[in-house]
Amino acid sequence: MKPNSAVIVPVDKLAQAEEYILSKVQNVPDTAVVLGSGLGYFANQLTPNVTLNNRDIPHFPQPTVVGHEGKVIFGSIKNANLIAIQGRSHYYEGKTFSEITFYVQLLSHLGVKNLVLTNAAGGMNPVLKPGDLVLLKDYINFTQLEVLPAEQIPQQIFSERLATIAKSVATELKINLSEGVYCWTIGPSYETHAEVQIIRDLGADVVGMSTVPELIVGAYLGLNILGISLVTNLAAGIGATPLTHAEVQAVADEIKKPYSKFMSALIHKIIISET
Ligand code: HPA
Repeated sequence: MKPNSAVIVPVDKLAQAEEYILSKVQNVPDTAVVLGSGLGYFANQLTPNVTLNNRDIPHFPQPTVVGHEGKVIFGSIKNANLIAIQGRSHYYEGKTFSEITFYVQLLSHLGVKNLVLTNAAGGMNPVLKPGDLVLLKDYINFTQLEVLPAEQIPQQIFSERLATIAKSVATELKINLSEGVYCWTIGPSYETHAEVQIIRDLGADVVGMSTVPELIVGAYLGLNILGISLVTNLAAGIGATPLTHAEVQAVADEIKKPYSKFMSALIHKIIISET
């Protein structure tokens, strides 16, 4: 398949970023997690070995959204090593898909195998309530933007093996983990009543403004992908009052401890199942 040159970062740029990272880190772990809203707490629970600022990594795009600090943390959970990416870029910030997916391409270049993508999302399915976790089984690209040509996007995006691990950890910890379809919107505005109706009719369970470019490029590069949404709110048209970013943050903050506990156990299990 012909790579898409507008999205794919030139290998010499990735090599320069890699060179910097390998000057700071001896071993690159197999598993990386992208920390969406609500997982800043998780980052603080890790044992950090080396923390790099995105701005020091050659060619790494800089985030512009408050609350999305740009760091790459090489750390461990109970002696199992992982990489945590803090501060992703979004399309609504005016970033290109090459910039948004830079870290995914860099992780793949570094030899990472498993990519856990997390995000905050609005609940579309009426059974969902704020604080719920949803394991992503498919996605809808409501933006109509082409990240990669359809023929380059693998049929199977999400790793069944990683999904099975997620379900088993949820059962062990007695955490209710639903499965659902994620709908990607451009943002930064939340959806109107009418959009919520359409998106629900399309079959989405959760809606958000991130993750899809990354999972497309990650799957294209052959990474094993796991996606988890934290439901921070009922989608804008469903709740009684207009949705604010502060509301989304408040729910993310409330749930941070059990959510981090689940993510730690999940990622630990993924790492130890590799070896
Ligand atoms: N819509 C879109 N993105 C979101 C939402 C929402 O309701 N909640 C958190 N991110």
